[in-house]
Amino acid sequence: MKIAPIHLVLGLLAAATGFLLLKSRQAAPAHTTSSREELLARGKYLVQLGGCADCHTRKEVTEKGPVDDPAMMLAGHPEGLVLPPPSGDSGPWFAATAGMTAWTGPWGVSYASNLTPDPETGLGEWTEAEFVAALRTGKHRGTGRAILPPMPWQPLGEATDTDLQAMFAFLRSLPPVKNRVPEPQPPVTGTVSSR
Ligand code: HEC
Repeated sequence: MKIAPIHLVLGLLAAATGFLLLKSRQAAPAHTTSSREELLARGKYLVQLGGCADCHTRKEVTEKGPVDDPAMMLAGHPEGLVLPPPSGDSGPWFAATAGMTAWTGPWGVSYASNLTPDPETGLGEWTEAEFVAALRTGKHRGTGRAILPPMPWQPLGEATDTDLQAMFAFLRSLPPVKNRVPEPQPPVTGTVSSR
């Protein structure tokens, strides 16, 4: 009769441990989901604050001013809309097209990139590390050609790894838009900006 209570205690302990283990295992997926939601919410907030859509989403010019084209959200300058080279030296001016996704200045003509996860025309094939490196170095995927103005990679590259990762996660959650942005054009006159 002395042994029985010990067995009982051990039995209860085992049951309690099992229960706790089960509880923690059940709790795990819920926790992961909420961190994923938090990451995407943070990314969305930073992408809005970073004004990415100001340049990477084509605008419709309306009576209320320029408005984002919802079908082209963060999909960059529209495919096939290659602009004529600017006529001569633009003087002190940098200029943007009406859609606000193409820009000209001393560097020539630059077209805002497709940031949606389309694998062929957007960031679909990019790794998170390449995205972080691109914003830190100002180079395509972190090692390629220099990213042209007016892409503000310098201040954006000062964001923390966590914030850049959140932006990338949010961009990856967007609906992919197949839109091949034209290649940039060199300047007609003058020299390429100092890089
Ligand atoms: C003032 C306009 C402007 C803003 C604001 C802007 N971009 Fe850009 N971005 C551009 C342009 C134009 C290019 C293309 C430059 C080129 O072709 O070299 C570009 C290129 C990029 C590239 C490089 C793509 C590649 O293929 O190498 C990434 C990544 C990028 N932008 C992400 C962002 C993110 C994320 C934000 C917001 C946090 C943002 N941009 C805000 C204009 C802008």
